[in-house]
Amino acid sequence: MPHRERYLFICTNRRPDDHPKGSCAQKGSEELVTKLKAALVARGAAARVRACTSSCLDLCEIGASIVQEPEHVAYGHVTLADVDAIADAVVKGEVVERLVVFGSKKAEG
Ligand code: FES
Repeated sequence: MPHRERYLFICTNRRPDDHPKGSCAQKGSEELVTKLKAALVARGAAARVRACTSSCLDLCEIGASIVQEPEHVAYGHVTLADVDAIADAVVKGEVVERLVVFGSKKAEG
């Protein structure tokens, strides 16, 4: 398979339920991976955009967390309700500003 134009790295790290940092898997990130993959297929974009599982992105407290490359933005507090917005944006090379916690061009500008 070719190198993709864009990647979504979805943290699926899981910690014990009583761990103070929490973890993205506890917040539903494993299902996010499944839904994002399906959303990319539905948009005919799976050959251009890849949704991958990731280990801890060190954004645990604001999980579920996703990093989009090459835009180099981190999304926080992502839920299943955000899947369509993320998929719509990434296929256009855009980001969902309301979910950005780090790396927003608007925030840096
Ligand atoms: S557990 Fe997901 S960012 Fe750390």
